[in-house]
Amino acid sequence: MLLDGFGRRVDYLRLSVTDRCDLRCSYCMPEGFKGYQEPRDWLSFDEIERLLAVFARLGLKHIRLTGGEPLLRKSLPTLAQRLAALPGIEDLSLSTNGTQLAKHAARLHRAGVTRLNVSLDSLDRTRVRAICRRDALPQVLAGLEVARNEGFRPIKINMVALASTTDEDIAAMVAYCMARGFVLRLIETMPVGAAGRDAGFLDLHPVRERLRERFGLIDGVVAGGGPARYLVSPDGSFQIGFITPISQHFCETCNRVRLGVDGMLHLCLGQNDCVDFRTPLRAGGSDAELEQQLRSALQAKPWRHEFRERPQQVVRLMSSTGG
Ligand code: GTP
Ligand code: 5AD
Ligand code: SF4
Repeated sequence: MLLDGFGRRVDYLRLSVTDRCDLRCSYCMPEGFKGYQEPRDWLSFDEIERLLAVFARLGLKHIRLTGGEPLLRKSLPTLAQRLAALPGIEDLSLSTNGTQLAKHAARLHRAGVTRLNVSLDSLDRTRVRAICRRDALPQVLAGLEVARNEGFRPIKINMVALASTTDEDIAAMVAYCMARGFVLRLIETMPVGAAGRDAGFLDLHPVRERLRERFGLIDGVVAGGGPARYLVSPDGSFQIGFITPISQHFCETCNRVRLGVDGMLHLCLGQNDCVDFRTPLRAGGSDAELEQQLRSALQAKPWRHEFRERPQQVVRLMSSTGG
């Protein structure tokens, strides 16, 4: 079992397979961003598989594929299949912006990806275009229909709550998710990178209480390794999660670390601490050395983010680790 310096069990890795993205969401990336990693610096599939096999032997159970936009990494289903087959891995999931989902959903599902989280901040085409700086809504909705028919379960919709998000935007998304059996999650905007800091924040606590009242929801539990806390309809058919890093801390139960496409292991979403694994992988480091480096990296995992106290803290973009 892998424990960090505070005794928290770390068994969930968020793997960023590319830092590239085909959208430019205002809370995530600057509009004219060009500073992507060079392909020679990307971990290869062999390097990823080797490192994650070492990690899995130490107790890693959950892998989530993220980006940037993970479906932009060529042959992603091949990597997914290799990771799903690692001894010890019980759960392989994907967080995507959905624009390429219609094309890739079937192969990903066959490769062993079961759980799917899709970003969608509004059902209003003009609003999506304004937030994502691309006319993405029709493609995302089409991708979701394909994914649903392929049998991904659960499918969760990630809706970032911005200062401009209204109760009516949320009610429209509730109706859409109810009709399709999707789990909805509302996320407080985090000050990760300059884009995240400038985006404007909506406290989800009062929103949650209004939704509880309006739809007669009760506290509930939904499968998943992440920090969302859920309300459900009394018959259990609709579930809505709230990810509230700003208004309510959940760091004491944190179970995760993040691996960048460049091989940097980020120890906390809200801190800059990271450890380079690409250098030992390319310098012929042994499995025992990688194992030792993983153990000591986890000892340095920070206790918590400081989004409120030090919002300027995180210098990297959200897109570099995919949330
Ligand atoms: P599940 O396994 O389905 O629960 O996934 P998840 O909610 O962990 O993953 P997803 O990629 O859908 O992330 C949803 C939101 O939660 C994103 O905005 C993430 O940045 C945020 N998030 C995920 N893990 C953490 C975390 O450890 N700390 C903070 N502050 N936010 C997180
Ligand atoms: N704050 C909160 N969530 C964010 N995401 C991207 N940037 C931010 C931010 N600044 C979300 C995406 C996606 C998830 C993985 O992270 O919308 O759903
Ligand atoms: Fe864990 Fe850091 Fe996320 Fe807090 S912000 S829950 S410590 S990764």
